[in-house]
Amino acid sequence: MDEQKIKELITYACNMRAFSYTPYSHFNVGAALLAGDDKVYTGCNIENASYTPTICAERTAFFKAVSEGVKDFKAIAIVGGHDGADELDYCFPCGVCRQVMSEFCRDNFLVIIAKSVDEYKTFSLPEILPERFGPKDLLC
Ligand code: THU
Repeated sequence: MDEQKIKELITYACNMRAFSYTPYSHFNVGAALLAGDDKVYTGCNIENASYTPTICAERTAFFKAVSEGVKDFKAIAIVGGHDGADELDYCFPCGVCRQVMSEFCRDNFLVIIAKSVDEYKTFSLPEILPERFGPKDLLC
């Protein structure tokens, strides 16, 4: 994926952090998911007083896309950190979000973890979720 596209996705993810609803953790995460047709689906984390219903930014983005009939994805950018932090650290996706990626994405799906548009790391799906259990194990 070209660098300009990566930076564009990171910018979308950074901007989404403003919409995070995080009264409990104050940890704001934004995600930008690039679909096969180049449309971008964004997401933020949304917490709940009952804690369990909390949803991560990545899954918000996936579920927005899938609920609109989109199931072909190329990449996701993830930006996260504490509310008001001067500088962000890399925010890696949790195990549940990695499993959701595994449901809908192929091995060449690109996971972009960013501190800023200039500081990011990229991984393939098998790099962040090796030996994954997925649709291939259940579907004939
Ligand atoms: N969170 C995400 O949105 N994505 C991640 O990859 C890691 C964690 C959220 C969930 C919760 O609202 C907050 O960060 C603290 O765990």
